[in-house]
Amino acid sequence: MAIATGSILESEATAPYRPRHRPVVASVQLEETRASFLAEFPSFADTAHVDELRRYEYSRVDAAGQVYLDYAGGGLYANCQVRAHARMLGEGVFGNPHSLNPTSSAMTELVERARARVLDFFGASPEEYDVVFTANASGALRLVGEAYPFAPGDRFLLLIDNHNSVNGIREFARARGARTTCVPCPAPDLRLDASFLARNLAALPAGRRGLFAYPAQSNFSGVRHSLDWVEEAQAHGWHVVVDCAAFVPTSRLDLARCQPDFVPISFYKLFGYPTGVGCLLARHDALACLARPWFAGGTITAVSAQGDWHRMAPGHTAFEDGTVNYLSIPAVEIGLDWIDHVGVPAIERRVQALGAWLHDSLGRLRHSNGRPAVAIYGPGRWEERGATMALNFLTPDGRVVDERIIDRTARDQKLSLRTGCFCNPGAGEAAFGLSPADVALDVLPGRMELSIDDYIDAIGLPSAGAIRVSLGLASNFDDVYRFVQFAHTFLDRESHAELLPARTGC
Ligand SMILES: Cc1ncc(COP(=O)(O)O)c(C=O)c1O
Repeated sequence: MAIATGSILESEATAPYRPRHRPVVASVQLEETRASFLAEFPSFADTAHVDELRRYEYSRVDAAGQVYLDYAGGGLYANCQVRAHARMLGEGVFGNPHSLNPTSSAMTELVERARARVLDFFGASPEEYDVVFTANASGALRLVGEAYPFAPGDRFLLLIDNHNSVNGIREFARARGARTTCVPCPAPDLRLDASFLARNLAALPAGRRGLFAYPAQSNFSGVRHSLDWVEEAQAHGWHVVVDCAAFVPTSRLDLARCQPDFVPISFYKLFGYPTGVGCLLARHDALACLARPWFAGGTITAVSAQGDWHRMAPGHTAFEDGTVNYLSIPAVEIGLDWIDHVGVPAIERRVQALGAWLHDSLGRLRHSNGRPAVAIYGPGRWEERGATMALNFLTPDGRVVDERIIDRTARDQKLSLRTGCFCNPGAGEAAFGLSPADVALDVLPGRMELSIDDYIDAIGLPSAGAIRVSLGLASNFDDVYRFVQFAHTFLDRESHAELLPARTGC
């Protein structure tokens, strides 16, 4: 594998993919295509207010000529959110909420208001749920993992389709002697193996604890995993973590109807701003089961330095180490108000229509030899997904086009996509049909020392992952149309990956 750097490489590597002629779809008028889209999805017209909001509140996207298709990476903020937050900061005098002075109390009031608003937004009764503010969903998951009282013989059960911040909990389980089991989500659908899961849920040994973790929506394929598993798992004695980081930006999570023990969330994925704030929604009884491995400023009601004892504070207080991100937390309330103003049903309806059109348009793309130009991972129908799709472009002879080429070409055309495995190695392994034996540590001695490229070659992967296209609140028809035009530029092209730089991560 040739490793090179610099601008010469860039032009050489991307040159084979520069359109040599005007894309096929470019000859079809955007307006004609939009008209046939609207005829196919008439209910999209009911969401015209979002197109208006896109023009005013997200005008910078079009002004910059950007096509944003990475909502699973992070949402976009509306201008009014930032203005409202700036006004709040500009008009108030706020201090660290850890005391009782006037500026501190003013801040405490806003933080607690935001906490109540989070409960309200997700339909969670304060009698049943608490909100722990964290830096992000990963921080929320770490709180659960490090404090879950795993003991030898206990179980940690998770889907193969999980973000690494859930996968990482296995290290806490391992350190305390609990056994980890991974539920397969086999290709092509990448849906969980229901009989495997049901069998394992029913097999929690008497007297043992079990923690079951799965995503409501895959951040790789967009597959929605049923929330019905929550009740079934709880009925067998498991605590359940439902990772809703990828689900809530385009779907309503109603904690009055489905009550997981722990729900991690990152707010920037919902409404773009602020970053640096997430939360753990936790049932009071489940939170009380956790045993924190340390204490910190703000988490105790009493402590003695010489006496070597401490008493943890109740509820969320015990889990918010040090000073929370207090100036940003009120912007969560602003963001949730914004989402309610736009309307989750409208967001859901839009991304369903846009996604279905995109999915069908890509699925129909053929090289002139009649072979498919795109491989889409996961269910054959868009409707079984959230607003996310993973795919790869294929050459006329059916090989995967190196994702680095797509990345570079997309960048040139101001398209924001994601490539790789998106911190979800299991879904990628399943999509490429790798078995546990293929990736076992002892199959390839010395793999820890291999470069990423050599590792990919050694296990026979066609590329380092997939291309992810994800839609969200501010997506419009022009965005998906531009992506389909982009896809047309890959028809009848070969993949020339020899000059690409080495991969430095997966
Ligand atoms: C399903 C899922 N879980 C967890 C995370 C981690 O979120 P964060 O990086 O904000 O901690 C992500 C991020 O992409 C995600 O998609």
